[in-house]
Amino acid sequence: MKKTLVSGIKPTGKLHIGNYFGAMRQIVALQEKYDNFVFIANYHALTTQQPREELEDNTLDLAASYLAVGIDPEKTTLFLQSNVPEVTELAWIFESITTMPYLMRAHAFKDALAKEKEVNAGLFNYPMLMAADILIQNADVVPVGADQKQHVEIARDTAEKFNRLFGTTFVLPEPLILEDVKTIIGTNGQKMSKSYNNVIGLFDKYEEIKKAVMSISTDSKGVEEPKNPETCNVFTIHKLFGTKKELSALETRYREGKIGYKESKELLIEKIEHFIKPLRQKRKEILENKGKLKIILKNGGERARERAMQKMQEVRKKIGLSIYD
Ligand code: TRP
Repeated sequence: MKKTLVSGIKPTGKLHIGNYFGAMRQIVALQEKYDNFVFIANYHALTTQQPREELEDNTLDLAASYLAVGIDPEKTTLFLQSNVPEVTELAWIFESITTMPYLMRAHAFKDALAKEKEVNAGLFNYPMLMAADILIQNADVVPVGADQKQHVEIARDTAEKFNRLFGTTFVLPEPLILEDVKTIIGTNGQKMSKSYNNVIGLFDKYEEIKKAVMSISTDSKGVEEPKNPETCNVFTIHKLFGTKKELSALETRYREGKIGYKESKELLIEKIEHFIKPLRQKRKEILENKGKLKIILKNGGERARERAMQKMQEVRKKIGLSIYD
């Protein structure tokens, strides 16, 4: 029997290449090997408010984006988190066996506090809902970017705690992190993130790619000066798109002072455009047939819910909420 993989992504705005190389690509590659459950985390999205239309658009857009990058609904159960309302029930149960000091150690919460953001109770409990998403499907693995690793550890701790209190119920999930691209850097050299305003969009048009790449920060070395590719943000992004051979040739040119940053950026623009163009096209086609897209999501939702309901029966019984059978 195949092992189960669960992965979610929040519909809170446009995807960038960091999302792709950090998580989406793995999920697509792994759909052969695992029983894949991929969902749009629209409950999680509620911790930051957005108008209804925006949330709806972002949800469909994200589903289309997953399909465009190669998620195959025959192999992956693609669904909306809100089609499995049982996760909110399970999250409540988890919140009740988890201490506040434990949740206060979560990075996302600490970051929000440090930035003096208003922390709503949903944000504070975010890792509990995420644990429910993962554990309700008996996930063995959860592919995530390095920033989400702690959340998977929290899910694992929570499974252990529940199992200890009520008897073995949940599988202990493992995070799955790609070795070679742990963190994708953005145009300013920091981790690529919407909140840092340094992203290259996954479906950007040519002009947008150009603008983003041209804004990548570099030092001010002249064309003929030897450059260190390892500390160059442009080169770092090249690494995502180039073949080994291309990269080693480019590296030589850097070291020998045979390329300026401008030319390196121009090469990168073409590389990215070549990669993005077919994805852009595919996504557009999918969004032109929203009826079909919704059917895919509905079917996926039914399958995911079926499994979740079974698991919840077991959970309710173990903790004493179910007295009838
Ligand atoms: N917290 C994840 C993110 O922000 C999204 C998410 C929600 C998720 N539930 C999940 C990821 C369960 C993996 C498994 O990217």
